[in-house]
Order: sequence, then C-alpha cells, then structure tokens
Amino acid sequence: MYNRDVRINMRKFESGDFDRLWQMDQECFPPGIAYSRLELMHYMRRPNAFTVVAEADGEVAGFVVGECWNSKGHVITLDVAEPFRRQGIGSKLMLECEARFAQTGCTASLLETAVNNFPAITFYKDHGYVVLKTIPRYYEGSLDALLMGKKLSNTTPPRSTPSAREKRNSRPGSE
Ligand SMILES: CC(C)(COP(=O)(O)OP(=O)(O)OC[C@H]1O[C@@H](n2cnc3c(N)ncnc32)[C@H](O)[C@@H]1OP(=O)(O)O)[C@@H](O)C(=O)NCCC(=O)NCCS
Repeated sequence: MYNRDVRINMRKFESGDFDRLWQMDQECFPPGIAYSRLELMHYMRRPNAFTVVAEADGEVAGFVVGECWNSKGHVITLDVAEPFRRQGIGSKLMLECEARFAQTGCTASLLETAVNNFPAITFYKDHGYVVLKTIPRYYEGSLDALLMGKKLSNTTPPRSTPSAREKRNSRPGSE
C-alpha cells in the first residue's frame, strides 16, 4: 500500500552510506547472490560505475548501482529495503539509472536476475525490459539467470521529468 506522506529523495552515494547499503543487499538477496562487502565495493568503485541512493523521509530506503560500458548500461544491483517496497522507490531508482545511462550515450540497458526472482522479473517487465536469454548456472554455478534488456532512446525521460507512469502514481509529498 502506498504511504502518501512519505518524501522520496534521490541523492549521490556518500562514503558513510556503505555499511547500510551492504546490509540492505544482504537482506534483499539470498546467500550466494548477495554481494560480499568486497564485491559490492569493487562494483561501486569501477571507473564507469555510479551509485544512486533513495531516501524516504531521510532514511536510506534503496539504491542502484549502474555501469556504462561500450554504449551499454548495466544495472549491477537494484535494492529496496522491504518496508519501503511497492511505493515507487524502485521505479524512481530505475528511471534515474536509465537517465544516467542515456546521458552518457548508452543505447541499451542490460541486467541479470535470477529465474526464480518473480517480483524483480515482474518489476523489470513493467519497466519495458524483455528477456534476451537464459544464462545457465549464473549464480553459484547452479541457479540460472535471465539476461533482460531494454533499448534506450532520446525519449528516456530526463531525471527531473516524471514518466507517464510516475505521474499516474505520483503522491503528494513525493519529489
Ligand atoms: C524488485 C524491487 C527493486 C522493486 O522495488 P519497489 O520499490 O517495490 O518497486 P515499485 O514500487 O517501483 O514497483 C513498480 C512495479 O513493479 C511491479 N512489482 C514490484 N514488486 C512486485 C512484487 N513483489 N510482485 C509483483 N510485482 C511487483 C509492480 O508492477 C509494481 O507496480 P504496482 O506497485 O503499481 O503494482 C524490490 O522488490 C527489491 O529490492 N527486491 C529485492 C532485490 C531485487 O530482487 N532486486 C532486483 C534484482 S537485481
């Protein structure tokens, strides 16, 4: 259910966020799929990577790590803490990530998700992603992943402009 009073704010990662983001990743994914501290740090520090943090009423509620490479954007991870889900925060992070991809000249956005992660698959399909292929034994050498992708174009809304879907779902007090 939407909390109509929550104020959502997107901001840049700050070094003091790291422990909370890593903890959130541990809570969002099962062992073997969740990143170790070193892995998360490694991905966030890659040269073309960026991290966007979502705050809800000043509390860290989610984050996305993306990377641009060879005109392709790669969503490395997208995490929303359980109490803050289904309030549009994942969607806002996704739009921010895609806008950054487009601004750096990426023509497509790619990501992997576990074949049994139905909430994420539904979420990504809702955002226009299609399944490109199945990657056998991608996780821990046993669980398959879906490679999903979406073409980006000049129509990708700039960060300050809400999409039609966001307008539909916009709530008083959200930014
Ligand atoms: C997937 C995830 C990021 C979605 O974040 P969120 O903030 O809840 O997403 P939104 O509120 O923006 O949802 C947008 C739409 O996605 C779909 N969706 C999201 N969660 C869903 C769920 N659990 N079941 C079915 N559909 C879902 C719905 O269509 C939803 O629209 P609606 O709420 O109007 O029905 C979040 O569930 C999460 O962090 N999961 C754990 C980590 C993960 O799996 N990350 C993605 C793989 S890398």
